[in-house]
Parts: sequence; C-alpha cells; structure tokens
Amino acid sequence: MHSILKFWSVAFLACCVFPAFSGAPARAGGKCVALTFDDGPHPTLTPKLLSILAQEHVHATFYVVGQRVAQWPGIVRRVYQQGNEIGNHSWSHPVLPKLSTARIKAEIAKTDEAVRRATGVIPATVRPPYGSISPRVRAAIGRRQIVMWDTDTLDWRYHDSKRIARVADRTRSGGMVLMHDIHPRTVAAVGGIIEYLKSRGFSFVTVSQLYRGGCGSGGGEA
Ligand code: NI
Repeated sequence: MHSILKFWSVAFLACCVFPAFSGAPARAGGKCVALTFDDGPHPTLTPKLLSILAQEHVHATFYVVGQRVAQWPGIVRRVYQQGNEIGNHSWSHPVLPKLSTARIKAEIAKTDEAVRRATGVIPATVRPPYGSISPRVRAAIGRRQIVMWDTDTLDWRYHDSKRIARVADRTRSGGMVLMHDIHPRTVAAVGGIIEYLKSRGFSFVTVSQLYRGGCGSGGGEA
C-alpha cells in the first residue's frame, strides 16, 4: 500500500509539476524524435500537414479530439492509413481533473469508439488536455500509457512559423515535440522543423515506437 501511494505521488509530480520529465523513455540508439499534433483533426489544415509529412517520409502522432473525429472521420482514416499513430485527446477537450470519474471515463471511451469507427483501431496512448491530470484521472484512464511532451512549441500562443521552428529545434533525442494541427502557422512551420531536425541527424518515430525504445530499430523514417 505504502509503495503504491509513493508511486502515485511520484507519477503525479512527474506529469503535473514536471511535464518535461514524463515524456521520454529510454532510447535504443540513434537520434530520434516524436512529432505530436494535438486538437485536430482540422478539415483543411490536417490534410495539408499530411501532404507535408508524406513528402518528407515522416510519421507523427496525432492526439485527436473525439467530437472532431466524429465530424471528420475520413481525415482521421487518412492520418492512420498514411502510417501515423492516433492518440486519444478526450472527447471535448475539458480539464479532466474537474470532471466526475464517470465523465472522465466517458470522455476517453467515446473518443476510443470514434477512432475505432474511423480507423478500426483503438488509440494506444492518452494525452490529457492541457497536460492536466490527477491521481483520479490516472485511475480513470486505467493502464493505458499517459503521454505528455518535453518540447512545447507554444504554437497556439505565438502563431509565428519561425518562432515555432526555433523552439522545436531545441528538442533532444528521445523527445516529444508538442504542436497543434489546427493553426495555419504550425503547418507552415512543420516543413522547416523536419528539414532542420533531419540535418541534425534525427529520425522520426511515433510515440508508441518511442516507448518501445524504437529509436534505432526500424521505427524511424519510412
Ligand atoms: Ni489539446
């Protein structure tokens, strides 16, 4: 019991107080990074982003909002079919710790179902909106991996492609870069970010590949 309590408090500190320390597991070798795009799908920007990723032969992870998945399932299908990973970012993007346990579970389950209908698969990981979590939220989500990030581009605030790219360029190997595919400036910055990271020797993996230590084991560019 004591060690369980200790685990939860460490887990809470890791994800809520120090999100930078919660994202990246150990890596197997080689330099790699996981680009993540939250809050979509967006009816025009997500397809535009997909074209850039395809052109660059890069796979990313999309933390989708369930009610948007229900609205644009075809786009989510395309995201998945292109080799990207889909993660669960809740149904309506609330601050989960403020909800009842039943509502938290519904937020996650409805999104799982929308993604399953669109792609045939259920997301392997969950990213809570705003990175906001509590021991109760963690318990409601269950055993699934909860994923934060370690490089926040703050793209929602700056809306400036060059600035977004500068922040993303500070990433380190095994890192996760947080972006949002609902802002035109972010999509405009992505090509430059990818080119720069490639020039520094990075390959690109999805979040699940990163957690499997897939930096050097075929999980990179494809
Ligand atoms: Ni979000």
